[in-house]
Amino acid sequence: MKKLLKKPLISYVIGLFILIAGAGGVLSLIVTDVIILFAVLLFIYFVLIFLLLQIADQYIKPIEQTIKVVAKLTNGNYRARIHHQSIGVIGQLNNNINRLARSLNKLSIHQTIQADQLTTVIDNMESGIVLIDEKGYIHLVNRKFIQTFGNNHKHYLGHLYYDCIDNVKVHKTVQDTFLYEQKIKQSFIHKNNGEKYYLQIVGAPIFNENKTLKGSVLVIHDITEIKNLEVMRKDFVANVSHELKTPITSIVGFSETLIDGAKDEQESLDHFLEIIYEESKRMQVLIDDLLVLSNLEHDEHKIQASEVNMDEVLAEVEPMINHLANKRELHFAVEMEERLFLMADKEKLKQLLINLLANAVNYTPKDGKVTLIVDDQGEYIRIKVEDTGIGIDQQQIKRLFERFYRVDKARSRNTGGTGLGLAIVKHIVEAHRGSITVDSELNQGTIFTIYLPKKQ
Ligand SMILES: Nc1ncnc2c1ncn2[C@@H]1O[C@H](COP(=O)(O)OP(=O)(O)OP(=O)(O)O)[C@@H](O)[C@H]1O
Ligand SMILES: [Mg+2]
Repeated sequence: MKKLLKKPLISYVIGLFILIAGAGGVLSLIVTDVIILFAVLLFIYFVLIFLLLQIADQYIKPIEQTIKVVAKLTNGNYRARIHHQSIGVIGQLNNNINRLARSLNKLSIHQTIQADQLTTVIDNMESGIVLIDEKGYIHLVNRKFIQTFGNNHKHYLGHLYYDCIDNVKVHKTVQDTFLYEQKIKQSFIHKNNGEKYYLQIVGAPIFNENKTLKGSVLVIHDITEIKNLEVMRKDFVANVSHELKTPITSIVGFSETLIDGAKDEQESLDHFLEIIYEESKRMQVLIDDLLVLSNLEHDEHKIQASEVNMDEVLAEVEPMINHLANKRELHFAVEMEERLFLMADKEKLKQLLINLLANAVNYTPKDGKVTLIVDDQGEYIRIKVEDTGIGIDQQQIKRLFERFYRVDKARSRNTGGTGLGLAIVKHIVEAHRGSITVDSELNQGTIFTIYLPKKQ
């Protein structure tokens, strides 16, 4: 009953009933006919009930619905709206609440978009990011950090940095950032899943408006590529020096012997001069190759492309390779489709063919066969250089295009090789936006396949 009375409409109906019953009691003293009295009272009662329902429909129901919608809005459901049509003050109130709900909805969508954008930016940064509060708990880690340090978000979020990050250099950076309250920078090597990373970490303190320390943010840059380039540069200088050292030592040695008296013996004079000449030529080849490589690296995307007829290129390359092949007693064959044209740098294309064919000839024993196959592959021209030579071990293939890399140093040197030929080939292919692959089997032979686009 108490529950029922809490509903305003029902309590009004009961109240009305009591009121009419009271009025009936008073009227019965004046009106003597009981039936008329009862009919009049009943009529008044229903009229009042009807009026009450009208009032309830216009005022109480809208307010109840408004309360429900406001409760939904308070709970964060900004799509809730009041649909009940009302007039007067309640109508105005409902319109304003709906307008407020629409604004809140827009604001919340805007906020969600902004938060998404921020997360996307942080997650797609090339540097790892970690946010740590003043007690040492982690509040944010991005994808790059997880990639470098392993595990997943759950492993880090809400945990103390020294419990979940397995790297003392990182711990030290955080501690120093808190201790000195200033930016701390460090470089270190980190290993994860067999991968070795060179990392640079920057820890920066975060202060609130009262200048009290609130935590720190760590930014971790992956400098592996830069470090590798540095190592490559050092290797390159060491290699060049080493390559130059041998002919120079030889030239100096033989010149000294000549000066010391050997020049007076005709036979020694001829022999030593011949050696000095050969070694000088060797240095010249090396320096020419280095210059070609350096030019290609500088103008990687600037080739002098013009329409090239493959027949013309072959006409210039074939005699040279024929001569080499004859000298080494090998068969050289060409299988080329007629009228093949492409946009390319003719001189570089010639150099590419010479380098590959010279290798095939140099690394194929007597009586072997070297074949050049050129055909049309739609948008590409395919160039294949096949030989029946010594082949290359699978392990070595991935290093083949490195500068100065030679599988068999002694053998390559004997053929006058500098180890730059394939590095030049690779640069030429890349400058033409083409691709190169190697297939090889030890003592069976090697196939270099190149695809060059017809249009640049
Ligand atoms: N067709 C081939 N068959 C077997 N080994 C090859 C072949 N082509 C290249 N190689 C190996 O790859 C190495 C690198 O070749 P690259 O042409 O770069 O240098 P190179 O021939 O030694 O000297 P150069 O700079 O004078 O060409 C060679 O030393 C050789 O060991
Ligand atoms: Mg070579």
